[in-house]
Amino acid sequence: MWTRILAGEVKGFGNIDDQTREFAIAIFKKYRNKGIGTALMKSMIQHLKERGYKRASLAVQKENYAVRMYQKVGFEIVKESDEEYLMVYNMS
Ligand SMILES: CC(C)(COP(=O)(O)OP(=O)(O)OC[C@H]1O[C@@H](n2cnc3c(N)ncnc32)[C@H](O)[C@@H]1OP(=O)(O)O)[C@@H](O)C(=O)NCCC(=O)NCCS
Repeated sequence: MWTRILAGEVKGFGNIDDQTREFAIAIFKKYRNKGIGTALMKSMIQHLKERGYKRASLAVQKENYAVRMYQKVGFEIVKESDEEYLMVYNMS
């Protein structure tokens, strides 16, 4: 998992502005569905909160079951295209 600000000329798919870190996450297959992804997301959100970030963002394919995980963690859909959702987590 990483979070980055990809706000240069070529923006990240989940970029909303140049103050907001964008999430990407993938768990090695045999360790999936054990709660690790959820725990990592929560831990990273806490880490960003402590560093003063106000929001976090991500982009996800609509059919990916990860959408539900992101919603459970607290991300909200703010925009959608044919295939993807743009989601934002508000730290406050
Ligand atoms: C998405 C991903 C990061 C989630 O990590 P994880 O450790 O498997 O997630 P968790 O174990 O915390 O599970 C989160 C939820 O997803 C569900 N889930 C996990 N694997 C699933 C599967 N294959 N199909 C459907 N739901 C699944 C879990 O049941 C859980 O839901 P619940 O809280 O309602 O029980 C991981 O599965 C992954 O690496 N997927 C491939 C890469 C990817 O799609 N990354 C996201 C790109 S935006």
